[in-house]
Amino acid sequence: MFQLTRSVTWQALEKLYQETANDRIRDYFTADPQRFDKMSLRVGGLFLDYSKHHVSDAVLAKLLELANHSALVQRRAQMFSGDIINVTEDRPVLHTALRNLDKGPLMVDGKDVMPEIQRTREQIQRFSEAVRSGEWKGYSGERIKDVVNIGIGGSDLGPNMACRALLKYRHPELSFHFVSNVDGTHIQKVLNRLDPATTLFIVSTKTFSTQETLLNAKTARRWFLDNAGENADVGAHFIAASTNRKAAMEFGIREENVFEFWAWVGGRYSMWSSIGLPIALSVGFDGFMELLEGAYEMDQHFIKAPFSENMPVLMALIGIWYINFHGAETQAIVPYDQALHQLPSFLQQLDMESNGKSVDIFGHPINYKTGPIVWGQTGSNGQHAFFQLLHQGTRYVPIDFIASLKPEPGFEDHHFALLTNMLAQANAFMEGSQKGSQLDPYSCPGNRPSSTLLLDELNPRNLGALIALYEHKVFVQGIIWNINSFDQWGVQLGKRIAGEISERIDEHSQDFDASTQGLLALVRQHFNK
Ligand code: F6P
Repeated sequence: MFQLTRSVTWQALEKLYQETANDRIRDYFTADPQRFDKMSLRVGGLFLDYSKHHVSDAVLAKLLELANHSALVQRRAQMFSGDIINVTEDRPVLHTALRNLDKGPLMVDGKDVMPEIQRTREQIQRFSEAVRSGEWKGYSGERIKDVVNIGIGGSDLGPNMACRALLKYRHPELSFHFVSNVDGTHIQKVLNRLDPATTLFIVSTKTFSTQETLLNAKTARRWFLDNAGENADVGAHFIAASTNRKAAMEFGIREENVFEFWAWVGGRYSMWSSIGLPIALSVGFDGFMELLEGAYEMDQHFIKAPFSENMPVLMALIGIWYINFHGAETQAIVPYDQALHQLPSFLQQLDMESNGKSVDIFGHPINYKTGPIVWGQTGSNGQHAFFQLLHQGTRYVPIDFIASLKPEPGFEDHHFALLTNMLAQANAFMEGSQKGSQLDPYSCPGNRPSSTLLLDELNPRNLGALIALYEHKVFVQGIIWNINSFDQWGVQLGKRIAGEISERIDEHSQDFDASTQGLLALVRQHFNK
């Protein structure tokens, strides 16, 4: 059995950690005036500065060796060509096919999947144009004004994040709402504001079996019929994005309004599929295509650039350096852009559901840390909340700062303040306030690492590239850790037990532990069970 931590490169990295643990990042800049130029790179509209990291030249060279000695080249080729790399679920992993703008075929199980991807894209185009133009009418003949996406996890977070990020590109006559939580107050709050005659519901669920989504969809349908009349046309107001056409049709959705996608698209990687319908409705089909183009551009960079100039590979290696050698437990995501306020939640699922694993791809326990706890919120808000701990607390938290350079017309002074705050923080984290003196116990120690990612502009293309960048970063880390980044058995366990508990609540079942039984007894009192 291959043991990552016994490899010569891993052990050399451990030694390098001992040797460089007390280095000051700022001293790397003094020693090498070219450091910023050497440790920054551009891909399309994205610029990454990774110079403010606790990474010496020798460390970077060893990390690159780690990537070179891993299965990355082979697995990357396997992923893009549709081989079964999600071994526990026996599936290929092909979200990249959804944004593949090459004309060539892509064979899965002896079948070219590109024509069906193209067909679904055309369906998305026709539908989004009909709704946006007002050609699509509700039961009373009025145009759609509100779109409600009902979905959870990957069927919510991607389109939700992207619609908010691209709000300034939104169709002026359409409003978007996202209902995910099974807590009834979520859907109630949304429905209270809506008119059924002008509302379109998208039931977004890969499996069409997720409890939360089905319950919310049924509540929405009940509300619709109660308010529009029992005979109102459900099919004109409910559509679905799902791999489960049959269940969607049983729900009352017309066959032509079930937007297909495929088992080889993971939920958290699905915003490029018909799960991205709200994005196409909001920014238009051309904008949706620009999002795909940006992701495609990042895919091409990921495939072609040497590791030493490969943005996702470099970000992944630096993450591994902190997680496995510096002992960092978390990764903070801090977008200095209010439109990106959902990005930390999106990346949380992408990273934690993918790399929250403790066995390798063969099911053997591993003896090293894997995916970090991903968290964060927008700056400058975070500065007045959790940054204190980052500056002076006892934990070591690498940070990704993300911002777009282009100001909103009329708000140039706000944008300048936003960007200068971000640069000030990144500088302060690195420099601290000691300036060489150890005397002041209240000083900030500094030497805290960060990346800075600058988008020329927050537009669909650059957003697509940004999300693909993080997808590939997570992929690279998963390959180096030799884990399966594409299954989620922990989540499935929770889904199964929730089903069992709700099915057997009235049985007074002794099968659950005493604590669960005791709590269930308290719940039962409120449900006449
Ligand atoms: O959170 C687990 C998960 O399986 C995600 O991967 C998926 O995005 C989500 O549940 C919702 O599943 P579905 O799209 O099938 O409703």
